[in-house]
Amino acid sequence: MPDATDSLAILSRAPVIPVLTIHDFELAVPLARALCDGGLPVIEVTLRTRAALAAIAAIAVEVPDCIVGAGTVVRHVDAAFAIDSGAKFLVSPGTDTVLAETFTEIEIPVLPGCSTVSEAMVLSDLGFEVLKFFPAEACGGAAWLKAVAAPLPHIRFCPTGGIHVGNAPDYLALPNVVSVGGSWVVPQDALAAKDFKRIKALAREAADLRA
Ligand code: 3PG
Repeated sequence: MPDATDSLAILSRAPVIPVLTIHDFELAVPLARALCDGGLPVIEVTLRTRAALAAIAAIAVEVPDCIVGAGTVVRHVDAAFAIDSGAKFLVSPGTDTVLAETFTEIEIPVLPGCSTVSEAMVLSDLGFEVLKFFPAEACGGAAWLKAVAAPLPHIRFCPTGGIHVGNAPDYLALPNVVSVGGSWVVPQDALAAKDFKRIKALAREAADLRA
């Protein structure tokens, strides 16, 4: 069973966890370096592309300062392949009963996804007290998180989905928010153009959100 303190330790390293969709494996290492140099050492590589597992493996070996996790984990096999590739933590958008069982059996930190109070309660009963709240903006945003703090005081969240530099401070001001996730730090056009200078500047701006 993963230890919640490990998840907290990872997610507390930076206010923003970049959520990455990497199509070209060769961009993975320079991208991770740009994000780390900009002050964001924890990144999530979504398992939505053919390059994702190779990208995770390359970052894990070549960018030791970076804590690379696998996102969009929706099946047992995703978790197994991600761990084999060197992922340091796993993230899911939601958590069905089969995936929850998988998560209780693995040893690396996990961030199970939820979008309702009932889902958060089920995951908490299973021992998960640090959860991804997804899709955050579509499901009530910062107001939802503020409202659940009283009935669910032991649960901490990493909201993701629709968050950007403009609304991130509203989330980061909440005591039950550890950090936020978002793709805005790495615009696809900047990545395709290999504009790592712009990506590093966006990372710096995000890292400074909680100075
Ligand atoms: C995702 O899985 O796509 C993430 O939650 C990122 O959402 P965003 O693109 O709205 O930041």
